Amino acid sequence: MRDLRAYGAHAIVTGASSGIGRQFAEQLAAAGMNVVLVARRKDRLDELAAEISGEHGVECRTVALDLLAHGAIDQLSQEVAGLDVGIVVANAGIYYAGPLVDNALADELDVLSLDAAIPLQLAHRFGREFVRRRRGALVLVSSSIAASPVPYEANYAAAKAYVLSLGQALSHEWKKDGVDVLVVSPGPTRTEGLDNAVGIDFSKLGGATMDPAQVARTALDNLGRRVHVIPGLRNKLADVAGKYLLPRSSSVWMYGRIIERALTGGTGGAA
Ligand SMILES: NC(=O)c1ccc[n+]([C@@H]2O[C@H](COP(=O)([O-])OP(=O)(O)OC[C@H]3O[C@@H](n4cnc5c(N)ncnc54)[C@H](OP(=O)(O)O)[C@@H]3O)[C@@H](O)[C@H]2O)c1
Repeated sequence: MRDLRAYGAHAIVTGASSGIGRQFAEQLAAAGMNVVLVARRKDRLDELAAEISGEHGVECRTVALDLLAHGAIDQLSQEVAGLDVGIVVANAGIYYAGPLVDNALADELDVLSLDAAIPLQLAHRFGREFVRRRRGALVLVSSSIAASPVPYEANYAAAKAYVLSLGQALSHEWKKDGVDVLVVSPGPTRTEGLDNAVGIDFSKLGGATMDPAQVARTALDNLGRRVHVIPGLRNKLADVAGKYLLPRSSSVWMYGRIIERALTGGTGGAA
């Protein structure tokens, strides 16, 4: 891994209270970065901050924030004003599976906001600063399912495809300014997010799940080297099949058949 401190002294990680985000925070701290931990569960963040600063001797701030609340990115900006922020990891995400019309529209709109609009806002707010000073890195967490439209995960897959497209385009825009962008597309990964997923039982899908530490490691190892990385051989092969080997219609059909097997019922609600 390159010296990440060359980007700046501080890294912001959204969704740091569990799963992949927690691993990003731990590994960035191990690499000598001061970290700003963002999520709603303050107790979790405080516990992690104490652990990380004790173990790695870095400065660790917590920002207990609901990113879906109005003005959340402005609030985050104020919390980190004056810090030398060099890396932003846009990781926080939520997920609902099931037939779209069985889910509450409000829940699906939250997915679209947290998984797509918030990464856009983070890219705009912090990317501006990175470009101005010609230094910085943005890490966007997409998903291996961004490779294809996915029935019963229609909105989530579309949001993750948006994130992949956004990151790949921004990487080109910002290259001349010395700013790096990396999109990481994990496959099924052992996190609370996977265990508590609404509308689907991932254990019914079979197949291996990945360690969240490996996802964060693969991303950070490739930061500044590549634009898009898919951790794990199996996920890489699925990506190639979804994008290049199968016609789009076959890929959609295949994903539909696979996901159907694991559905458990949606979030309900009228609108
Ligand atoms: N696990 C997988 O199989 C998998 C596969 C592909 C992609 N991904 C992506 O990887 C990312 C991390 O997922 P994960 O599996 O690690 O999930 P996770 O364990 O559920 O973690 C999600 C994180 O997001 C935070 N979060 C949720 N809603 C929030 C809100 N409104 N405001 C602020 N923070 C919020 C949660 O913290 P609080 O609850 O404390 O707010 C938590 O820290 C997501 O973008 C997900 O789509 C995961």
